[in-house]
Amino acid sequence: MPGGNTRHSIAMAPYPIYAASGCGCHIRDVEGVERIDFLNNYTSLILGHADPLVTAAVQRRVAMGTAFTMPTPEDVELAELLVDRIPYVDQLRFCNSGSEAVMLAVKAARAFTGRHKIAKFEGAYHGIYDYVEASEGPGVDEWGEIDAPQSIIEPGTPPSVADDVVVLPWNRLEICRERITRHKNELAAVLVDPNPLGIGMIPARPGFLESLREETARRGILLVADEVLNFRLSYRGAAHLFGIQPDIASFGKIIGGGFPVGAVGGSRRVMSVFDHTGDLKVHHGGTFNANPVTMTAGLETMKQMTPEAFERLNALGDYIRERLTRMFHDRGIAAQVCGRGSLFIAHLDDGELVDYRSLRGFSRTSPIYGGLCHEMLKRGIIISPRGIFGCLSTPMREPEADAFVEALDESLAALGVRN
Ligand SMILES: Cc1ncc(COP(=O)(O)O)c(C=O)c1O
Repeated sequence: MPGGNTRHSIAMAPYPIYAASGCGCHIRDVEGVERIDFLNNYTSLILGHADPLVTAAVQRRVAMGTAFTMPTPEDVELAELLVDRIPYVDQLRFCNSGSEAVMLAVKAARAFTGRHKIAKFEGAYHGIYDYVEASEGPGVDEWGEIDAPQSIIEPGTPPSVADDVVVLPWNRLEICRERITRHKNELAAVLVDPNPLGIGMIPARPGFLESLREETARRGILLVADEVLNFRLSYRGAAHLFGIQPDIASFGKIIGGGFPVGAVGGSRRVMSVFDHTGDLKVHHGGTFNANPVTMTAGLETMKQMTPEAFERLNALGDYIRERLTRMFHDRGIAAQVCGRGSLFIAHLDDGELVDYRSLRGFSRTSPIYGGLCHEMLKRGIIISPRGIFGCLSTPMREPEADAFVEALDESLAALGVRN
């Protein structure tokens, strides 16, 4: 495997630790060392590992066959559960990854509006579709003026893609308005993740998301929400929590209960572009779409995620964010804690955080986080080598949150960030 791995997000210097098994919030590695998992396969496992009910349901389903050239009752059941929960979704379709879900939402917006450009936020990650990869992590030397962010494409992408992506700066409403207005006749969609990890989960300023909704609606541009990661924030998802009503959205991660998944869902009008009996057909293939194993795992997981389960998990998120903030304060470390619900992220910086640029190198360039990850691993905690980012699962309680904060405190001392 090039680089010794099969996805960049698990790469770690000099090489990653190999997992043998997982149970609840713990992972045992191939050498028998057990650690608390604060990554949960990059936020996709909201019940932690090997939940007994999910495991039993999947075992039953596997024994009955795993893939058919036919739909199964399980896909209807999961679709109904999601449509019941998400206020702006009348219809949805399944696919196999969040990247596919984002791609389908963007294609749907283009087909529906008859326009070809999309706008997205500088620094935001939306998966590996060419257009949404634009400017997901530009450097200072390439990002351009703040009121005209450059559209930077990834290697392997045709240069024409850059011209079809309008890059917006997070939280800078006037610049966003001006750029949306300038491209209003070509823009099919504004793509937004309301709590973007790639922008450090810097909170949207009051009214920012609502204004984007108004601006797009006024100009016949679709608002596309990326809920792939942040659907875990509430029973009705992220857009609802942040008070916006998108036209269409992408889903993934937790709705597959630990198996590969994606979904695109939205209003009946917009989703009609996928209807083979209608006029505007966006082709939607996928050999394993809505396979019954994923559907079963997703259904069993989402049933367990009741409003009470979200409330308890999110309260634990408040607890760990408060404990981290207090630890930084007590130690005199310049830092601030962002995140919502079961997600948290700490920035070792006390400057004002507004947009991607104000993070000054979070995740991609700061060498401290690689070292910190190793210190945390030594202390029994799994985090990303790309930032102090963590994600909770329902088997966790306060002792696991306390263990995280204590390990971080000691790790920062070991690295000389504090005395
Ligand atoms: C916000 C967001 N969108 C899309 C994706 C892509 O999802 P997948 O990795 O399932 O393709 C991710 C993955 O981390 C994500 O965080």
